[in-house]
Parts: sequence; structure tokens; C-alpha cells
Amino acid sequence: MTDDVYGIEKWGKDFFQILSNGNLGLKNPLKLKSRPVDLTKIVKKLNQKLSPPYIIRVSDYLEFMIDEINEKFNKSIRMIGYKNKFKSVYPIKVNQQSQVIKNVVKFSKKFNSGLEVGSKAELLIALSQNLTKNSLIICNGTKDEEFIKLALLSNKIDIKTILVIESLKELNLIIKISNSLNLKPLLGIRIKLTNLISGKWSQSSGDRSAFGLPVDKITEALTNLKKNQLLDCLILQHSHLGSQVPDIIEIRKYTQEACRFFVEISNYGAPLKYIDLGGGLGVDYTGENKSKFHSINYSMEEYCSNIVETLKLEFDKAKIKHPTIITESGRATVATSSILVFNILDTTIFDVKSCPALHKKDHIYLSYMIQILNYISTDRIQECFNDLNYYRDELRVLFRNGQINLLEISKIEKTYLYVLNRIKKFVDQKKLNSNPVASKLNNLADIYHGNFSLFQSLPDVWAIEQLHPIAPIQKLNIKPNKNVILNDITCDSDGTISKFVLNNGVKDTLPIHEIKKNEEYYLGVFFVGAYQETLGDLHNLFGDTNISTVKLEENGKFKIIHEQIGDKISQVLSYVEYSSEEVIKTFFQKINKYYKKKLINSKEKNQLLKNFKASIDGYTYFEN
Ligand SMILES: Cc1ncc(COP(=O)(O)O)c(C=O)c1O
Repeated sequence: MTDDVYGIEKWGKDFFQILSNGNLGLKNPLKLKSRPVDLTKIVKKLNQKLSPPYIIRVSDYLEFMIDEINEKFNKSIRMIGYKNKFKSVYPIKVNQQSQVIKNVVKFSKKFNSGLEVGSKAELLIALSQNLTKNSLIICNGTKDEEFIKLALLSNKIDIKTILVIESLKELNLIIKISNSLNLKPLLGIRIKLTNLISGKWSQSSGDRSAFGLPVDKITEALTNLKKNQLLDCLILQHSHLGSQVPDIIEIRKYTQEACRFFVEISNYGAPLKYIDLGGGLGVDYTGENKSKFHSINYSMEEYCSNIVETLKLEFDKAKIKHPTIITESGRATVATSSILVFNILDTTIFDVKSCPALHKKDHIYLSYMIQILNYISTDRIQECFNDLNYYRDELRVLFRNGQINLLEISKIEKTYLYVLNRIKKFVDQKKLNSNPVASKLNNLADIYHGNFSLFQSLPDVWAIEQLHPIAPIQKLNIKPNKNVILNDITCDSDGTISKFVLNNGVKDTLPIHEIKKNEEYYLGVFFVGAYQETLGDLHNLFGDTNISTVKLEENGKFKIIHEQIGDKISQVLSYVEYSSEEVIKTFFQKINKYYKKKLINSKEKNQLLKNFKASIDGYTYFEN
């Protein structure tokens, strides 16, 4: 067994394990004694009917996280002596896919959990779910008349839909519609807290946050509610610190500030029953347990106990009855339960195994390039690098000017790569990592081309440099012998991954195995359940991947409980305003023209049409 190169033990300890055959095992955190499931077996099973890339959702991971959040809060409440309950509310925007929502609702039923919505479409999803009578639907976001009416009317059928006031203008609309329908609303108020968070969402926290009412607007809203005899409808206070909060101290400070508002609003006369602290519970993507953008310096237990302890202290101090605690953890609920698995399609190797032989007619600079091999040493490493680039660049000028031919420049480029790789080997062997040459040599990493779209499946990697752990799902017992960066299948130079979570920190290249001819080699990208599926786009018209929901069973077995076929080409064409019938028709007319002119025969005509139709019904990704 080799070392845990990818740090699986760090970031994946609850969920993953390297099996004795070197494949990646999926542990069942709900049944710690059961044998892990071999992920390659799931992929093999899916390959019988479908093609990669796949999103594999592990339902047990989702259930585990929902249990964890609820049980850890309940435990803290018991231990600290808080005199009310906890309710989790899942924010639909984090992953709205129907199978995910269905399972969130199913697994959280026993906790009477609810849903948070931020738009009319999300409200419709929430209203159509089988929530319990005690569940809440919390409506954030900008609301129009239709949204408000629907929320108000839903209260009639025993759904507790709470309209969270986001602005004074919105409040006026709610008052007007409530009066016209003669219905009393269930209301919440969104507070803009002043505490800033660190990490990626720091800009959108505190005073500059786009959401919530600042203090002067809160007092206006309260006066307005009182004037309209609706103050008794204000039962919830909402605030949201931002996503992926890295530091536990920030959570304590923010909770304390939220309490102060709660106390003041209660003292004003509002019968607040719920304190909703929004999302923010982070995921330790790197497993470092540090206060950094991709990590967090706290455990779930610490998060819960810090919140409960702060609330109890503040409410006891103010002699306020303990309200029900609500959090809207999205990322932490769903991130771990989805894995993107894709195959490697091709490799671009920058290594040259042997030095091209020198001939008398070769340019003198080529012999100088080869002579560099004789003076590679720690003291002269920069000189070697400078010389090599100088000679190669001069020879490139000669090629551009027509003084050397294609075969000659090809030999020069090969020699360049050979010498450069020898310099790199020396730098690696002597561990000259801090030498300026070392960082320049990173460009030498080979490129592995994966069957996935960064823009569709990992949009945050592109947009905000999000890190997800990435590792091969096989050969984990064999030392990787290449260092690569990953390229996706789009024709965009941004479709690249060049930062990787490894056991020894975040690095610019991924250690990986050399791939043999015809070998199927798969990589897994982990913790992709939050935001990625929702934010993905259709760059180059690569659509949704095939999706499979699996349940882990005893003795290393598994069950595929749901399959969602990825987008067909006809579907992605329709998203960009093409009708597939129209496309087929115009192509058919074109073929017919050529056929009539006898430029193609009937066999060619049928072949063309058959292939075109097959493509339109096919997967948008590379198929074997
Ligand atoms: C109002 C609200 N609640 C909850 C969340 C979910 O946050 P997280 O995914 O960090 O738990 C968000 C996301 O930013 C949000 O805007």
C-alpha cells in the first residue's frame, strides 16, 4: 500500500477509504461496521447502460448529514440546558434537483424540518413537497404580488409559509395584499448584521451586504407593522452571515449580534418565536481544519454548541423566553453526497524519453542545448534554464524566417523538452522547491484531458477558484508516476484545473498514473453536491451529465435507486432556441438537393440522415 497521496484520510475520513485492491471504497457513515462499496463497481454497473461522466449521489451521505446537523444541535440543547428546540431548514437554491429535494424531505421528516425558498419557482417546489404540519417554509428574496398571494393562501391548507420582510417596499405590498385577502400573514424580518466574515464571501457580509434591513429601516418596519395591527404576525427573525464561514469566532460574534436584535424587537412587542441564523456552516474541502477559504477550523459539534451556548447566555441575560433555533445549512447538508466521476480521454505528454541524436548538419545552437546536460548543478540551475530558453527562442526565430525547416524545428523542440525534463528531474531530486526555476517548471506538467465540462459540473472551480478534492478511483495502491493538470472537454482555455488538494497541501499539479493504451481510467471529484449542479451552464452545449442515486448496502453491495439520463443534444439545442425537428428538416432538405444533383447516392444520403438523427438523440459528452 502506498501513502495516502491525495489526503483521503483527511478530507474524506467519514466517507471514503482506500480498499485493499487499490480502488476507492465508499464507507457507510450510518453503518460503520458494514463493508465499504467499491466505487469502480458502481461505475462499471452504470457503464452497462450509460456513458460517463456521471454524478453519483450517495443517499446515505445525505441522510447522515441531515442526522448530524439535527442530532448535534439536539445534543447541545440538552447539554447546555436551552429551553426550546432546533429546526433545520434546507435552502432549495443550494441543490434544487428533484431527487435531492425528495430525499432531503424524506430524511428530515423525523425532525419536522422545513425548506427555504428564494423565488416563486422554489416556492412552488416547496409547496408541492410532503412536509409535516410542523415544518416551515421560509420565504426570502424579492417577492411580487403573485408570490405573496400564494404564500398567504397556502397558510389556509395548514402549510406554515413565513414571508420574510426584505424591504420596506415589500412590507407595504404584503400589508396591501393581506388586507385585500383578509388574511393575517406569518411574518419574518431579515436583519442586516454588521459583523464581517473572512473568506470568499467577506465582501457581501456586514454593512455592504445586499440583503436585510439596516437598523433604521427595522424601526420603520416595526412602526408600520404596529400601525397596521400586524405586529402580532411577526414571529421570526432572519439573518444570514454568508456561506462557508471559515472561523468559529465569527459564528459566535454573529450569533450574539443577532440575539441583540431579537431581544430589542421582542421588547418592542413582536411575539418572535423563531431565531433563524441562515446558512454558513462550512465544509472542510481540504481536510486541514484551518480558518481558510476551503477549510473550517471547527467541527459540527462545536458549531452547534457555540450557537446554543451564545443564544442561552444572551437570552437569559435579557430575560427573554428561549425561541426555537433555526439554521439554513445548505452546503454542509448536500456537498458531500455527490461525486462527479469522469474518464480520461487523452493525454498530452511533455516528456521526451531520449535525446535526439546530433548530426553534422544540425545548427550549432542545438549542440549547445545538448551540452547543457553536462553542467546541470545546484549552483548553475538558473543558468541552465536561461541558456536552454535562449537557444530555443533563437532557433524559433530562424524557423519563422524560413532558415530552418519543419523537421529541424521538430528535432529542436524535442531536444528542448528532453533537456528541460532533465533540469526538472534535478530540481525534484535535490528538492530545490524554493528556487525560482522550480515554479517556472510547473508549466511542464503533462495535461490529462477529462470527459467533463468545468462550466457545467464544477462552475465554482472556474468562477471563484473553489477547491474540490480530486483523486483517481482506482490504482490507489500504486505510486503515481506523473504530475498533471486537468483539461475539460470544452474548447475553452479556461476549462482547466490546476490546483489540487493533496495530503501535503494544495499543489499546482495532480500526481496521477501513466495510462496504458485502451485503459479506462477514472477520476472522482468530491463534495460537489452544493451549488455546482445548480450554477452549471451550457458552455459549448455540454449539458447535464447522467446522474445516479445509489444506496449503500451490507457487505460491499449497493442499489441504484434512481437514474436520471443526462441531457440529450436535442434538449440542449432547445435551450438555445433550436427545434430539433426544424434542424433535421433543414439538414434533410440540404441532403436532398445533393442527392437530386446526383452528388451523393441513396446509401450516402441515408447514412448521413441516420447519423444526424442518432446524434440529436445522443449524449452531449464523449461516448465510446
Ligand atoms: C438566506 C440563505 N440561507 C441559507 C443559505 C445557505 O448557506 P450555506 O450553503 O452556507 O449553508 C444561503 C446561501 O448563501 C442564503 O442566502
